[in-house]
Amino acid sequence: MSMVAKPPPDPNRVIEASFAAGATRADQLPAPVTVEVAFAGRSNVGKSSLLNTFMQRKSLVRTSRTPGCTRQINVFACKLHDGLTLNLVDLPGYGYAKLSKKEKSTWGDMLEDYLRTRVTLRAVMVLVDVRRGVEADDLELLDFLRETRGEARPSLPAVTRVVVATKIDKVVASKRKPALEAFKNASGIRPLGFSAVSGEGRDELWARVRAALA
Ligand code: GTP
Ligand code: MG
Repeated sequence: MSMVAKPPPDPNRVIEASFAAGATRADQLPAPVTVEVAFAGRSNVGKSSLLNTFMQRKSLVRTSRTPGCTRQINVFACKLHDGLTLNLVDLPGYGYAKLSKKEKSTWGDMLEDYLRTRVTLRAVMVLVDVRRGVEADDLELLDFLRETRGEARPSLPAVTRVVVATKIDKVVASKRKPALEAFKNASGIRPLGFSAVSGEGRDELWARVRAALA
């Protein structure tokens, strides 16, 4: 008989994760039943990689070294060990230079519509590469979310905005705090650091999701 105490069960362990839908039009999205958290940010910032690590799946979400990989709204259904059930939504990246003007505006419209009108949306994680820092596009998105889905807009449920500094493993430990401080100053939002490689930040990100759903 082993006398080693069993570690307590991890409430953030993902017991089910599956691809639910890929949408290029609003009518291809799942019926708005389950609460959703969306992941946005520049192309190549690490949205899809973060989602794999967040859901503890190796390659459920397609990732690529080349920017512009995710070209539709991909919805993943997810269930945690403690029973929490939600959709995680991988959004196409913005700021991708190789797109034609027409493609850019179509995607922009689709993204905007989704963020503005999705009734089940409760939080948007705005991902920013820790080495790039918060840029104009990121601030524009944060402002758009505050204006369209802030507390002052009671027609739809409010959307919590979270700023995530990605690829934190690329910055030495001593430089992380100042980097996050700069994110805070630029965005006015307390950020958290995340690494899809090491899993650092995973529990804190789940805590932010839970707070947004509470
Ligand atoms: P688009 O779909 O094009 O918008 O990109 P994305 O934001 O989904 O980025 P993706 O997850 O595909 O990752 C882009 C590149 O960054 C890949 O080469 C990943 O391996 C790398 N990457 C993502 N997250 C991390 C991280 O936390 N640490 C490190 N070192 N590399 C990362
Ligand atoms: Mg992607």
